[in-house]
Amino acid sequence: MRHLLEVDDLTTDELVRVLHLAADPAPPRVLDGRGMALVFEKPSARTRNSMEMAVFQLGGHPIYIQAAEVGLDVRESVEDVTRTLASYHACIGARTFAHATVERMAAEDLVPVVNMLSDAAHPLQALADVLTLVREFSGPDVADWPAGDLLAGRTVAYVGDGNNVFRSLALAAGMLGAEVRFTGPAGYRLPDADRDRLSAAGLSITEADVAAEAVAGADAVYTDVWTSMGQEDETARRLVDFEAYRVDEALMEAAGPQAVFLHCLPAHRGEEVTDGVVDGPASRVWPQAANRMHAARGLLAWLLGEVDHAGEGHVGEESP
Ligand code: CP
Ligand code: NVA
Repeated sequence: MRHLLEVDDLTTDELVRVLHLAADPAPPRVLDGRGMALVFEKPSARTRNSMEMAVFQLGGHPIYIQAAEVGLDVRESVEDVTRTLASYHACIGARTFAHATVERMAAEDLVPVVNMLSDAAHPLQALADVLTLVREFSGPDVADWPAGDLLAGRTVAYVGDGNNVFRSLALAAGMLGAEVRFTGPAGYRLPDADRDRLSAAGLSITEADVAAEAVAGADAVYTDVWTSMGQEDETARRLVDFEAYRVDEALMEAAGPQAVFLHCLPAHRGEEVTDGVVDGPASRVWPQAANRMHAARGLLAWLLGEVDHAGEGHVGEESP
């Protein structure tokens, strides 16, 4: 059984295949007559809607479930909820606080589990991010994409919090051959365990204390909120700590005229990014948001249409 809890659950070849499928507006309807459960412990605009539409476009039926409704580890255990949902659905997506929750769902090994954002990772976002960059640099037509590393020779500079979004982006961009740079305050950088994971994948991150140095010459400047969902108690301290890491017009100028701007959204305008950058000529945030649906459709077309889930187990006879 294969799952997508983090980008490096895919090989580089598989990542490229997913991106090719993402660029196909009408892949096979691999979910025809089947369902996907979408469990959310946190709010969402892009992820819920892009996943629901991707499932629909693949012929399936998405069911949106607020975590409080099924009561993960309150009404019944995460494992029992997973067994129940796997009885009706071909796939389970989950947006959780603890990464361990999606790991526990996947450990049941009943149907593929897709991480729709945990405190540790946001792989679906990263798929859309690299799809956006490949389309930006090589065009919308797969026939024009390079045969080798899709982002070879490109540099992605991430500014701000070394969080779930950055962790997944670094893996995806690095796996496609991009140079990944990071700039952010001490105390908010990736811990050693993550560096080890990147090293194991043959990747490394260049770090700089000064934001203008990190972005100079980059092909893409990326930022995310300073305070992620679940960290609201730390907002006041983070506003102070990240003050030197705002992406404003001056920082984009330091990057150079070639640089595009990406943000997973939602943006906290005036905090990590100014209106002038989000709404400015370098911004690609709306194609990036649109690519969430294409990337999700590509991922599901691959995961449910092309992967041999050898040893797939079901709880009951009627499982999909
Ligand atoms: N980027 C992203 O995951 O957005 P939502 O939180 O709105 O789903
Ligand atoms: N890092 C942010 C991403 C939101 C899409 C969060 O986890 O809240």
